[in-house]
Amino acid sequence: MADQKATLHLPGQEAIELPILSGTAGYDVIDISTLGSHGYFTYDPGFMATASCQSDITYIDGEKGILLYRGYPIDQLAENANYLEVCYLLLYGEAPTAKQYEEFQRLIMRHTMVHEQLSSFFKGYRRDAHPMSVVCGVIAGLSAFYHDPMDITDQSHRETAAHRMIAKLPTIAAMAYKYSIGQPFIYPRNDLSYAGNFLQMMFAIPCEEYKVNPIVERAMDRIFTLHADHEQNASTSTVRLAGSSGANPFACIAAGIASLWGPAHGGANEACLMMLEEIGSVDRIPEFIERAKDKDDPFRLMGFGHRVYKNFDPRATVMRDTCHEVLDDLKIEDPLLDVAMELERIALSDPYFVERKLYPNVDFYSGIVLKAVGIPTSMFTVIFALSRTVGWMSHWNEMMSDPKQKIGRPRQLYTGAAERDFHTHVEK
Ligand code: SDX
Repeated sequence: MADQKATLHLPGQEAIELPILSGTAGYDVIDISTLGSHGYFTYDPGFMATASCQSDITYIDGEKGILLYRGYPIDQLAENANYLEVCYLLLYGEAPTAKQYEEFQRLIMRHTMVHEQLSSFFKGYRRDAHPMSVVCGVIAGLSAFYHDPMDITDQSHRETAAHRMIAKLPTIAAMAYKYSIGQPFIYPRNDLSYAGNFLQMMFAIPCEEYKVNPIVERAMDRIFTLHADHEQNASTSTVRLAGSSGANPFACIAAGIASLWGPAHGGANEACLMMLEEIGSVDRIPEFIERAKDKDDPFRLMGFGHRVYKNFDPRATVMRDTCHEVLDDLKIEDPLLDVAMELERIALSDPYFVERKLYPNVDFYSGIVLKAVGIPTSMFTVIFALSRTVGWMSHWNEMMSDPKQKIGRPRQLYTGAAERDFHTHVEK
């Protein structure tokens, strides 16, 4: 960290010097942690220019469209690594050796089953309940099965919690889907790959043998990798803030799932596909483009724009290639892809979107691929949550391993009533 300083001139006070800290890459930051002692807070709703923590896990350069997991570019990982390798990399900081990978895979596969009583949690939900609500509730419930004996100050306990979460999310996600269609839950199969096991829990039925389609398996694994982590996004920041109080990690992941559900965040892939279905045909695109520009119309082009990427989302680039591969390999003619391609072409040439640097993001293409492999729209964000669990756990563990860790407690600019005396209007 450089020893540069920022000088701040406050009314009626001596100029104060604030340390400027530098990381490996990206913007330097001004350490304002002592500002309170000078009678001021900073104000930054939505944290547009605020670093909440220091992290070694993921780096994004929004201007250049760069995404690195522990220094490795996302396109290289999507091409050359599988999701469990990426999980190991995010959790431990280095790619696994063949031996480490084998041990990690064995560990994860040993935790794929859930307590048999957990299946009762689903019965309280209507069959048509949104799967994100079901998964959020069941994961929160899982904290009851792993609470008392867990010591989150013990690294080995945190590691086991991460293994359990990575292993059980696919099982619970598939259970939510099976419950919604009235089919029996399918147990995990530890002889299959992580993605293959998820597909068989989703689509196998007890009365027939299920064969994993390798094309779909590879596409699924790549979708998991592309969504595995993304710095301090809303849901990851939620997990960090919930975890900063020492809360049970399963409850923290449930909080992250709740945050991810929003259409401005992880719910965008589901919203994007619903938007493409609403547009329906290429000739209706201009009408929706005009609506997206209309300040009085809340409609936005779902799958476009990003808080950080002011260039192409590098995940969208990989997802676009995967999208074409899957549709070509599975020989699927999807009119929604035609609408998506035309929408992308128009949006990328329209000054409104170009000026605001609103490029397609990862959600724009992931929805089409998920639909192509048979995943229902309502399950899209559940798959995003499944993929992102390793990122959430990696950030939670990084925070809990920090000896200087303290509870997160933002301040505010108070604009309410000044102090006044209370007089009741209620007859006692
Ligand atoms: C994810 O943070 C992450 O890393 C998230 C994520 C991850 O991996 O964790 O990458 C996953 O959440 C991707 C984003 C998915 N969301 C969507 O696709 C929903 C549609 N996108 C928008 O809601 C929006 O772009 C956000 C929320 C993603 C970002 O919004 P910002 O940064 O707060 O920007 P803004 O809302 O202030 O918009 C700036 C301008 C505004 O117009 P002006 O006020 O300048 O006139 O751009 C406009 C907005 O109206 N705008 C859009 C638009 N997105 C922004 N106009 C039309 N369609 C859009 N999609």
